[in-house]
Amino acid sequence: MENPVPLLSVESLGVEFRTRGGTVHALEEISFSVGKGETIGVVGESGSGKSVLFYAVLGILDAAGRITGGRAVFGGLDLVRASASELEAIRGREAAMIFQNPRVALNPIRKVGHQIEDVLARHTSTPSAALRERAIEALASVRIPDPERRYDAYPFELSGGLCQRIMIAIALACSPSLLVADEPTTGLDVTTQAAVMDLISELARKRNMATVLITHDLGLAAEHCDRIVVMHAGHVVETAPTAELFAHPRHPYTARLIATTPHGSSDLQSLAAIPGYLPDLRRSDLPACRFSERCDRFEAACSERPLARLDAGLVHSVACRRPL
Ligand SMILES: Nc1ncnc2c1ncn2[C@@H]1O[C@H](COP(=O)(O)OP(=O)(O)OP(=O)(O)O)[C@@H](O)[C@H]1O
Ligand SMILES: [Mg+2]
Repeated sequence: MENPVPLLSVESLGVEFRTRGGTVHALEEISFSVGKGETIGVVGESGSGKSVLFYAVLGILDAAGRITGGRAVFGGLDLVRASASELEAIRGREAAMIFQNPRVALNPIRKVGHQIEDVLARHTSTPSAALRERAIEALASVRIPDPERRYDAYPFELSGGLCQRIMIAIALACSPSLLVADEPTTGLDVTTQAAVMDLISELARKRNMATVLITHDLGLAAEHCDRIVVMHAGHVVETAPTAELFAHPRHPYTARLIATTPHGSSDLQSLAAIPGYLPDLRRSDLPACRFSERCDRFEAACSERPLARLDAGLVHSVACRRPL
């Protein structure tokens, strides 16, 4: 069985950062795809490369970062080779990202209504006389109570949950075909978390929008995603449909994540049960399998390069020489 027609197809993408402490080999040979209208979860411990992956895809890596190779084809265009203006046109309009910290991502000294208008003015042909009305509609679409009044609010006047809704409204203002939501519920209380996730899921369904949910929270991914991509130390180690991944994890790391996810609390950040640490990504002798030093199934063959590549065309694929 094949995956749905890909909207975004990432092939063998690599990223490194030049730092004073050495070169950080942040991503290596990353391959996965997102189908039209599909919701995928990207999970893995802190530092596994989830955010950097989508910064690279959307052309917003910081100056120390560089794409070392690979492709990221979105709507027929390879974003790795796209010009700055092509990327600028795609970001915000075709592909939007909700960043990890909404208070940092929002402009603190601009009214939220104006921030939505900025996006509409930049990316759509909305006449200026209609901008205000469209911005208020966008606020209403993410169920912000009293949108006419909130239009004039500054981010600091709003709760974390409302700021997150504003971020979603900005991201969705131009009806993108791909939404990347990076830890969209971090820092919110449990009730608000559920409301924000339900809102994202509902809007994604209504608009047939492909969604990438980046999260530490396996439970959240299980609840909202069709398919899950598991990352460890800058590699994709496994991808599978959600139910299949939980029922039959094949990579020892995935199995460990699932087994050590405590019932009721599914946040990877609170896990102490996976032995060892992510390897230091500045090492020049990083092993072919970056999990091998933490893996109880390790044997000599695991050190050989190249490691079996993830086949992005397969429904369930695993990068492991000794899968379960
Ligand atoms: N500007 C940078 N300079 C050097 N290294 C960086 C830079 N940005 C990210 N990295 C490194 O890249 C790796 C991946 O970082 P990334 O932020 O993508 O992790 P993450 O999976 O999103 O973690 P978290 O769950 O904490 O958000 C880490 O080892 C990080 O230290
Ligand atoms: Mg991150």
